[in-house]
Amino acid sequence: MELKIGLIGCGTVGTGLLEILDKKREYLRDTFDFEARLVAVTDKLKGSVCIPEGIDIKKLLDLLHQGERIDAYHGEVGSHEAIDALDLIEKCEADVIAELTYTDIKTAEPATSYIKKAFRSGKHVVSSNKGPAALHYHELKKMADNNNLFFRIEGTVMSGTPVFSLFENGLVGNEVRAVQGILNGTTNFILTRMEQDSMDYADALKLAQELGYAEADPTADVEGYDAVAKIVILSNVLLDGNISPADVRREGITALSKDQVLAARAEGFRYKLIAQARKAGRRVEASVSPRKLPLSDPLAGIMGAHNALTFDLDLMGKITIQGAGAGKIETGYSILSDILAIHSRLRR
Ligand code: HSE
Repeated sequence: MELKIGLIGCGTVGTGLLEILDKKREYLRDTFDFEARLVAVTDKLKGSVCIPEGIDIKKLLDLLHQGERIDAYHGEVGSHEAIDALDLIEKCEADVIAELTYTDIKTAEPATSYIKKAFRSGKHVVSSNKGPAALHYHELKKMADNNNLFFRIEGTVMSGTPVFSLFENGLVGNEVRAVQGILNGTTNFILTRMEQDSMDYADALKLAQELGYAEADPTADVEGYDAVAKIVILSNVLLDGNISPADVRREGITALSKDQVLAARAEGFRYKLIAQARKAGRRVEASVSPRKLPLSDPLAGIMGAHNALTFDLDLMGKITIQGAGAGKIETGYSILSDILAIHSRLRR
């Protein structure tokens, strides 16, 4: 069965998704009867292409890898009118919109408007954007439900490492009482370098930026705002909460010195930026702060840019998952996994 896909935003995640679709085309068709027809791609910086009969993914990837604009797909750049993203979402013939624009944690725009436009035009949405999921999850989910559409956000927390889908499959039927995790790769990378290579904070942050882990504005990472967005999403999706970022007590890692990190290690502890949320009666309490964990804690062993999350479940007790929290292919995969979940439900 074919699914028509429109990409809004074609940076790292979008390119990762296209690379997977290109590489695994035959496998996905033969194994899941899944065929992706890419009907539209738009990016604020690179232009747009919209072809109802389908865009040749390999040809588009060649352009992207050469640093060309997306509108060069048709030939000469500038020979086509610029297409407004909202117009494209409404008019393109996609079944699913993959909303992959940059996260703005403060306003959640323009992503929220894009997602609403998709629902108003009868299109499912998958998104790795933390803004809309952290600020408007319940409103957007209700809008999707009211229109018999899917709104899936696996990539917002721990990229393609499964989190939300676990509760549809392997852990279905468990109630999540609490979660505690390392949800920001940049800060975990910085703390690891400070401890293992005795690197200074500023040098470690610079390296994290060079490696592409950090947000466009790394304040979101080091001051804990990125982890706050993720713990809000977890609270609202898995703990039945209704909280916003302002409800989360937050402290980043900027006040933590290399000496403190090394002294903790000498005592058998490790500093980690821990995001946690727990049910307290009908409320959810959440926080993000640096904590000194004993080395015996599963989260203390998570090094580099990896993420990890311990679920406290009513039936299964504590389960910890660890894996990538960011990355082109890893986050691209989260989008594919959500698209495949929609495909499998539509087939049924
Ligand atoms: N800046 C984020 C991190 C990217 O370092 O974890 C993934 O959300």
